[in-house]
Amino acid sequence: MAEPSWIIHITLLSIILLSHPPIQTAQTLNTTTYTFGPFYRDSPDFDKFRFLGDAGGMSAGALQITQDSRNSAEYLVNKSGRVMFTERFRLYNPKKTRPTTTNTSTMLVASFNTTFDINIYRTTGTVPGEGIAFIIAPDLSKPPLASYGGYLGLTNSTTDGDPSNQIIAIELDTGKQSYDPVRGDHVGLDINSVVSNATASLADFNIEIAPVNATNHTVWINYDGISRRLFVYMAKQFAPKPTKPLLVADVDLSKHVNQYSHFGFAASTGNDYELNCVLGWNLTVEVLPEERGLSGWRLSVVVVASAVVVGVVVGVGFMLLKKRRLGREDMQYILGKLKSLPGMPREFRFVELKRATNNFDGKNKLGEGGFGIVYKGVLEKEKVEVAVKKFSREKLKGKDDFLAELTIINRLRHKHLVRLVGWCHKNGMLLLVYDFMPNGSLDAHLYGEGDPLPWSRRYTVLADVASALTYLHDEYDQRVLHRDLKASNILLDSHFNARLGDFGLARALDNEKTSYMEAEGCFAGTPGYIAPECFHTQKATCESDVFGFGAVILEVVCGRRPYDVFPGGFKYLADWVWTLYREGRILEAVDKKLEGEYSAEDAERLLLLGLACSHPIAAERPKTQAIAQIIYRSVPPPAVPRIKPAFIWPMVGSLSIDSGSYCSGTTTTRRSSSSNCVWPTIEGQAGLGEISMV
Ligand SMILES: *[C@@H]1O[C@H](CO)[C@@H](O)[C@H](O)[C@H]1NC(C)=O
Ligand SMILES: *[C@@H]1O[C@H](CO)[C@@H](O)[C@H](O)[C@H]1NC(C)=O
Ligand SMILES: *[C@@H]1O[C@H](CO)[C@@H](O)[C@H](O)[C@H]1NC(C)=O
Ligand SMILES: *[C@@H]1O[C@H](CO)[C@@H](O)[C@H](O)[C@H]1NC(C)=O
Ligand SMILES: *[C@@H]1O[C@H](CO)[C@@H](O)[C@H](O)[C@H]1NC(C)=O
Ligand SMILES: *[C@@H]1O[C@H](CO)[C@@H](O)[C@H](O)[C@H]1NC(C)=O
Ligand SMILES: *[C@@H]1O[C@H](CO)[C@@H](O)[C@H](O)[C@H]1NC(C)=O
Ligand SMILES: *[C@@H]1O[C@H](CO)[C@@H](O)[C@H](O)[C@H]1NC(C)=O
Ligand SMILES: *[C@@H]1O[C@H](CO)[C@@H](O)[C@H](O)[C@H]1NC(C)=O
Repeated sequence: MAEPSWIIHITLLSIILLSHPPIQTAQTLNTTTYTFGPFYRDSPDFDKFRFLGDAGGMSAGALQITQDSRNSAEYLVNKSGRVMFTERFRLYNPKKTRPTTTNTSTMLVASFNTTFDINIYRTTGTVPGEGIAFIIAPDLSKPPLASYGGYLGLTNSTTDGDPSNQIIAIELDTGKQSYDPVRGDHVGLDINSVVSNATASLADFNIEIAPVNATNHTVWINYDGISRRLFVYMAKQFAPKPTKPLLVADVDLSKHVNQYSHFGFAASTGNDYELNCVLGWNLTVEVLPEERGLSGWRLSVVVVASAVVVGVVVGVGFMLLKKRRLGREDMQYILGKLKSLPGMPREFRFVELKRATNNFDGKNKLGEGGFGIVYKGVLEKEKVEVAVKKFSREKLKGKDDFLAELTIINRLRHKHLVRLVGWCHKNGMLLLVYDFMPNGSLDAHLYGEGDPLPWSRRYTVLADVASALTYLHDEYDQRVLHRDLKASNILLDSHFNARLGDFGLARALDNEKTSYMEAEGCFAGTPGYIAPECFHTQKATCESDVFGFGAVILEVVCGRRPYDVFPGGFKYLADWVWTLYREGRILEAVDKKLEGEYSAEDAERLLLLGLACSHPIAAERPKTQAIAQIIYRSVPPPAVPRIKPAFIWPMVGSLSIDSGSYCSGTTTTRRSSSSNCVWPTIEGQAGLGEISMV
């Protein structure tokens, strides 16, 4: 059927109307203001920040841009972290202008003002390093690898100077590098590089960022979007704002940063270290009108035109559906598809997949689960191996699960998540196509016939999954719960890199309230992977994902399934390991198939972490980021009570289940009351031991 030409005309009309820049905008823009701090673990602001890389979380009133770890210098040197405000700001709009006093109108660029208090602390007798920066970054991603030392958590030797960084930073540098043009402490404007575009020596202003006697400072940064000029001021905390700026620099945000960017802080340590803390932060940003804020007739015409277009598309869809005699559910499906159209992966023709899998031959079956059967296939044209998941029709919920999986996984991008290649829909039959993972699933390697998975592989598999989980919980724009973490959902590529797969049960947390899954309970999961509170709350949380991952950790180290028969009559692996731990022989839990070929230190780290994640009380489990840091060996393993605590219901304390759930966080719990950012008086376990659950 040829489309009537008037459809095309209306479509073009609406495109023209939508893309034509309005002639002028209001001269005064509204602003939005945020006031943060002091920062505590249980403050309602906690959720508004992402703690990335070696950032240490919120504790004792401060944001720790690099962690404050008291145990030893080992955890303080060569670190880089970022703490980013999750809110995204539109910083300019190329389609809009504002008139200026000089009679020329310029592109609309947002002005902003920010003030923050910092405490950069060094231990007596040491040299401080390296520095802290206020940054504008395009996303909530981690500081790059090896961005410690002089790179301030901004760039590394590969990415420094690359315009695609889209980073602007105001650095407060305590470590002198060869490229730093001024003596001692200085402030600098950095554009995509730690080699500053403009600098000023703080000595000229009688300021030492990290003096021997701890001093808090206040920094003011004002940016004027009209003159495109930046002003930086600094003084001791509680002193009035100086009249003379330290640094004045011309910088056009619209030339360097992403149109939508995030504000936050980055910091690093090198061989010399310091605590990099922010004690309070105020931010005021001009609000640029969004395109949909079109006014008057233009808006109504666009609405009418768009409505007509949508109506026509839906109508055509209806006719097609009627012809093929498909059900109402399929209609919903089509609409869902229309909604999520941008960025959709490839749509396959059913025959392509049929041919690829040799008509879904049982011999090509890779596995079953998450509401469907998975087949191996080879795409004829591309000669590429894929995994094709066919949703079973008998399951009533198949379509919703398909949509959920499609919409979530389609938007996720992470090297440790299985990649979605495409999808297919035919006669109510739904299929998803994934990258094929030549080394199959983790459980096959733990329990299969083949050679046992060597220790180093086991360790990296867990590190990979921890990084995927951190991404889902804390780094992706929207918080995503996997809800079905288990060894059979962890797949291994040709290099034995692990990828988390099967998003059949995954949910974006924001959507969960309206999700039909609510009524369905936690998950039709496998015993041993389900957190005890799930039986009561019927609700998945970050903590229940952590519990599932804890079961996987123990499984990988012990080579035993989480729910089985264990010596002493235990039914759960965690209970057995906990007993061995109490009796001081935890390493006896390590997989015998390894024949002693493993690092005892790492095995103990993982076993303790696995137990901590298996804590019966959800709030006591380590947070996702802390888990990754422990596996990366950047913080020591958690202290675990000798005797497994009892499961208590109703849950004690304020639990994230009620408060909308946070997963981020670090090695400190809200019990931490000792003062960070002031060098620890108690050495030893006091600092990181705070993860303990005693
Ligand atoms: C500023 O905010 C007020 C109140 O929310 C609103 O009425 C007004 O339209 C806004 N102005 C601009 C330019 O966005
Ligand atoms: C820190 O990094 C520097 C430079 O890369 C290196 O020389 C030094 O050994 C590192 N220190 C530690 C403790 O890793
Ligand atoms: C602005 O432009 C108008 C006409 O284009 C001119 O008369 C006026 O002098 C200009 N004002 C300034 C401040 O340049
Ligand atoms: C920032 O501060 C300056 C000076 O105090 C003020 O003139 C300006 O309006 C402020 N801008 C914003 C966006 O708050
Ligand atoms: C932020 O603003 C509040 C209210 O004006 C003020 O009390 C506080 O000192 C400010 N904090 C900083 C870090 O400027
Ligand atoms: C710099 O960071 C990028 C991105 O994280 C990474 O791919 C690259 O390997 C890093 N370079 C170095 C020298 O570590
Ligand atoms: C300053 O900024 C520009 C980008 O506008 C960049 O190309 C240049 O290399 C930067 N560095 C220095 C030291 O000026
Ligand atoms: C640091 O503080 C102590 C005690 O207040 C004082 O005696 C000393 O002079 C101060 N040192 C410096 C370098 O300001
Ligand atoms: C710096 O700020 C922290 C947190 O507000 C406070 O505990 C500490 O006493 C301050 N230090 C100084 C030297 O004022």
